[in-house]
Amino acid sequence: MPKLVITGGAGFIGSNLAKYYIDRRWQVVVIDDLSHGSKDNIKEIEREPKFEFILADIRSAGILEKACADADFLVHLAAYKIPRYGDALKTLTINNEGTRTVLETVSKRNIKTVIASTSDVYGKNPTPPFAESGDLVLGQSMVRRWAYAASKIFDEHLALAYSVERELPVVILRFFGSYGPGNHRSWWGGPQAVFIEQALRDLSITVHGDGRQTRSFCYVSDTVSGIASALESDKANGQIINVGSSEEIEIIELARKIISMTGSKSKIEFVPYESFGGGYEDVRRRVPDLHKADSILGFKTKVSLAEGLQRTINWHKQYL
Ligand SMILES: NC(=O)c1ccc[n+]([C@@H]2O[C@H](COP(=O)([O-])OP(=O)(O)OC[C@H]3O[C@@H](n4cnc5c(N)ncnc54)[C@H](O)[C@@H]3O)[C@@H](O)[C@H]2O)c1
Repeated sequence: MPKLVITGGAGFIGSNLAKYYIDRRWQVVVIDDLSHGSKDNIKEIEREPKFEFILADIRSAGILEKACADADFLVHLAAYKIPRYGDALKTLTINNEGTRTVLETVSKRNIKTVIASTSDVYGKNPTPPFAESGDLVLGQSMVRRWAYAASKIFDEHLALAYSVERELPVVILRFFGSYGPGNHRSWWGGPQAVFIEQALRDLSITVHGDGRQTRSFCYVSDTVSGIASALESDKANGQIINVGSSEEIEIIELARKIISMTGSKSKIEFVPYESFGGGYEDVRRRVPDLHKADSILGFKTKVSLAEGLQRTINWHKQYL
């Protein structure tokens, strides 16, 4: 059976992807430094003979080379996210050096690779839904939050350069708001994770800004099926493809929905962006155009927001 290496595989998307391929009897090797991932996320598969966990920083080229020695596929998910409260240096260096190390390693063996990018690269593009051919409109560099989008745009260009100049079979996926069991239970896991945690404890639901900004949320099994299609389809090579859901919702509506679904006594509290420091700027509307995902990957979301939220709430309840 094929061997798949997943960087960041003890994180949210990575652990769900690892379970998917263990179920399909692939050999799966996870490399993660556990900076944001957790052994809890992989406890169901940890003892499987076809599963291996390597505790390491993705920038350790020697460890990565060894793990990739006889690998057929690699999915690169290890990264730092939007520096909301600090850590721009980690976001920039890990996302840049980590991706460089991964691409250099896989290109030596021509390993089919999927690289994780993000909807954040569309930044302040004023014309959603965002198609892959659309402009990437970042704010000024003095605003720290754009460090994440900038790092991922660099990763995209780097991956495309390896695709063209080294003929690496590589696909770049721009994920839009994935959520579900295994998501980080803090802001790192997205607003739905924070709201569910707060609602289950009857705490104030902290909505950033006026809450009228929109997002689209994609249940993790749909995200995983997008990754699997990109990994296993040659048609996707050298492409950038959105993976997400076109179901758009205002953040305040999401908060109300979660309060209602959990039967919570929580009230909504508005948190001004200024409280983050670093001149934080939010994205007003964010929703993907999924035509390319559909035509190249046959990608269609299967889990509605209502159903996905219910499963996610049930998962969060175990931590009460
Ligand atoms: N979850 C989403 O909605 C979403 C949206 C857009 C893009 N993405 C991208 O998808 C990928 C996975 O996201 P996620 O939500 O699963 O995040 P996550 O934080 O849960 O997983 C990332 C994993 O990478 C590991 N990691 C970080 N730095 C590392 C390093 N230097 N060496 C080894 N491991 C390291 C962390 O410990 C973590 O387990 C990331 O690249 C992220 O930028 C995710």
